[in-house]
Amino acid sequence: MVSLPSPDWNTGGSRTRCGCIGTEEPGIALAMHVADPRDAERIQALIRGLSMHSRYQRFFVPLHELPPPLLAQFTSADPVATVTLLVETPDHAGTKLIAMAQYVAAPFPERCEIAVVVADGWQRRGIGSRLLRTLKQLACAAGVTRIEADILADNGAMLKLARRLGYSLTRLGGGIVHASLAVEAPCPE
Ligand SMILES: CC(C)(COP(=O)(O)OP(=O)(O)OC[C@H]1O[C@@H](n2cnc3c(N)ncnc32)[C@H](O)[C@@H]1OP(=O)(O)O)[C@@H](O)C(=O)NCCC(=O)NCCS
Repeated sequence: MVSLPSPDWNTGGSRTRCGCIGTEEPGIALAMHVADPRDAERIQALIRGLSMHSRYQRFFVPLHELPPPLLAQFTSADPVATVTLLVETPDHAGTKLIAMAQYVAAPFPERCEIAVVVADGWQRRGIGSRLLRTLKQLACAAGVTRIEADILADNGAMLKLARRLGYSLTRLGGGIVHASLAVEAPCPE
């Protein structure tokens, strides 16, 4: 459990904050913002801090941190290309990132690929669901018409999450399940 932040914690700074979509639980303050280059080192810290299992489920390869081109992509907020959402919480040193999700348009606007990861100690609190709902809002607002994801077939948590959010799931070869969701106007609030 973390202590409560100061009252203006959610609105301070000059980040591209997603004001209406902060996530809160009693006694815990979380805030969501769109990643920019200032987040690069904290994103690496988030990735390094994941269990090997979570890293593998997210990236499908046993990486330790993000290669520089991927880090640059994830921190370049561009609604027609890539948008990364970050969740942060106060800690003794200020704030730390505890979750990340992004869409990568490929190609825009027909479809985008999404992926999400929540720090191991913060899983099963609704953060992954909240991130994917918000990402859908952002993708819809940008004009994307279909959201897709590839999920490892043994990733029960992500499959359950995708199913609950309305994705249709198709088993592909090679232990992969493909998730797909049409994004229709009006965009979710
Ligand atoms: C998949 C992941 C993002 C889910 O995030 P989360 O914040 O734990 O998800 P939520 O708390 O919103 O839970 C969503 C649903 O999944 C279920 N769930 C979460 N973790 C689970 C687990 N380990 N086993 C079974 N179900 C699980 C929850 O119970 C919830 O369903 P419910 O409300 O009906 O109970 C998270 O487990 C994670 O980061 N995993 C490693 C990376 C990964 O797999 N990314 C997906 C790549 S496409």
